[in-house]
Amino acid sequence: MPRPLRRLSNKNLLLRRHLDETMANLEGNHPIKPMPFAYEKVSSVMDEATYKWHHDTHYAGYVNKRNEIEAMLKTADLSKANANYSVYRELKLEETWNADGAVLHELYWDSMGGDGKLGDDELAKRIAEDFGSFDAWKADFMACAKVSRGWTALVLDMSTDVKTRNVLLDFHNIGGFVGAMPLIVVDVYEHAYYHKFGPDRASYLQAFVDNIDWAKAKNRYKALTNMG
Ligand SMILES: [Fe+2]
Repeated sequence: MPRPLRRLSNKNLLLRRHLDETMANLEGNHPIKPMPFAYEKVSSVMDEATYKWHHDTHYAGYVNKRNEIEAMLKTADLSKANANYSVYRELKLEETWNADGAVLHELYWDSMGGDGKLGDDELAKRIAEDFGSFDAWKADFMACAKVSRGWTALVLDMSTDVKTRNVLLDFHNIGGFVGAMPLIVVDVYEHAYYHKFGPDRASYLQAFVDNIDWAKAKNRYKALTNMG
């Protein structure tokens, strides 16, 4: 028994070294972006430990794995691509899991740090037209976030007649509307709120909508609707 184990161990060491060298040469370069606000700006939505863990562990983990996967895809054996199982298929699946995980967290940070007031302009008119009123949007957004297992987003659905919608994504990479661009995003995985609110997701959501920074959503809305 010792011999096969030693051989396996050596083989693993060589494989590890090969992977490390490959990574050093080909590593993706998506940066871990800093939080766009000081903790005090979002203290009503999360406690200080979550502020740090969420960014330094969860979000950074997605960025790092996205970079690793991009590097590995450059040398993946395409001739073995297979829908039942292949390294290439697994890498492609985890590529969107990690890329979307990173981008959704960046949009989530961008959605916070304001006073929650929508004001009165083009996006406000759009939301009033699509939902009836800002309060009706808020009620629908919070209900959508209550039934989601991962994320909820206010999106601009460019595939129809430029409508705003609330959508849920149970996983980072499953459940979005193709052709829809996120304007406001909230994280409803437990790690985002349990340390401050416990299982009281409703209070977390109330704190979130009261802390939305609509200025950034409006900039995105303006950029998207002026594209043509
Ligand atoms: Fe998260």
